[in-house]
Amino acid sequence: MDKFIVKGPTPLKGNIPISGSKNAALPLLAAALLADEPVVLENVPRLQDIYTFNNVLRVVGAQVQFQDSENRVIIDPSNVNYLEAPYDLVRKMRASFYMLGALVGKHGYAKVSMPGGCAWGPRPVDLHLKGLEAMGISISLDKGYVIAKAGTSVPGGRYRLEPSSVGATINLLLAAVLRAESFTIENAAKEPDVVQLCKVLNSMGANISGVGSDTLTIKQVRTLSGGSFRNDPDRIEVGTFMIASAMLPGSSLRLIGCNAEHLGDFPNLLRQTGTKVDLDGEVISVQAPEILKPVSITTDIYPGFPTDLQAQWATMLTQAHGNSTVTDTVYFDRFSYVPELSRLGAQMKLAKNTVHIQGPNLLEGASVMSTDLRASVSLVLAGMAAKNTSEILRVYHLDRGYESLEDKLNAVGAKLSRAQE
Ligand code: EPZ
Repeated sequence: MDKFIVKGPTPLKGNIPISGSKNAALPLLAAALLADEPVVLENVPRLQDIYTFNNVLRVVGAQVQFQDSENRVIIDPSNVNYLEAPYDLVRKMRASFYMLGALVGKHGYAKVSMPGGCAWGPRPVDLHLKGLEAMGISISLDKGYVIAKAGTSVPGGRYRLEPSSVGATINLLLAAVLRAESFTIENAAKEPDVVQLCKVLNSMGANISGVGSDTLTIKQVRTLSGGSFRNDPDRIEVGTFMIASAMLPGSSLRLIGCNAEHLGDFPNLLRQTGTKVDLDGEVISVQAPEILKPVSITTDIYPGFPTDLQAQWATMLTQAHGNSTVTDTVYFDRFSYVPELSRLGAQMKLAKNTVHIQGPNLLEGASVMSTDLRASVSLVLAGMAAKNTSEILRVYHLDRGYESLEDKLNAVGAKLSRAQE
């Protein structure tokens, strides 16, 4: 397994190109199975999760070509003939569960492994299954697999997601567009990843109304065409690098190829810490303040503070002059990074789904363990702030979600190298 060796403290200065969004690309890959012709996706990041999903598509019989030097994926779904997504792939990457909606939506049958948990705890799929049943799709469980069956047309109806769920919204959209006479999702997720999926499906010929709102109504169409679509930039990567620039004294970064509209109130929140943030079209400039002020946050569904930036923000707050709190209301137990940061000297105390932070902390390099994607990148941020050398173990978590991370950071002054554990 690989590890990162990080020397700190280092300011970051210069330009960082932003990659395509992993979480926005994955539902588009699944949506390609609904088309009658090839689908071309541009700006798809070269990430382990994308490679894994491409393999899931190949297992069911789709032809998938990843021209990864061009960040382009070409999917030809015309030969799909095996309507199952196996456990050994689904357990590796939860988003493979989107195969349930895509296969039953297109073919009227799907057998997909339940995804299981993840590094920070249970991640249920009950809303996915209840929503499909509400649509008129029959759902049964068989030895850890979900079996979904549907006739050429199911009545549809309506289903309210409680809580709102990105994955359930995506799966229900994938199942409904070709299969449900009329189906309404209430309290649907409004994340940019969902909006992009709706726009692409409608471009392929689907009939989805309410796009961008929390009520989506899908009217059945018989076929979807293929086409070429450009994937959104990764808003979580943008937020991560904005935080890096804010928390490393003397830093000044320009992030190239962003879509600031996807960041909600995040830029203003970061400005409250004293950080200078300029939005200029696709370029976001961020300059570290002399004194970083503590700003407490609570995560929420979009457009609230994204849970995928919670760990990074808490890491930044270890450098702020004063006390603060970070509360996650989306995932109550997404705090596996806290004991690791404490090994670097951070003063953090976890109470239920809130971490209390006393800053500023002079961090001292040490060996720390990655546990999940966003916790891992937070350890890299901490390593760049800490004195001396840190070792970050199990960086395969990072390779799932950050394209060329060490190249991007080293190009702006970081001292990051990869080695065998
Ligand atoms: C997506 O996961 C993202 N993953 C996550 O990003 C992100 O953290 C999450 O949305 C929230 O924004 C991808 O897009 C591949 P949810 P998802 O269903 O869809 C509960 C990353 O780091 N829930 O919106 O699985 C659930 O427990 C990853 O890139 C149910 O109770 O998230 C959670 O509390 C991590 N029952 C809340 O809803 C269900 O059936 C939101 O989860 C489904 C979800």
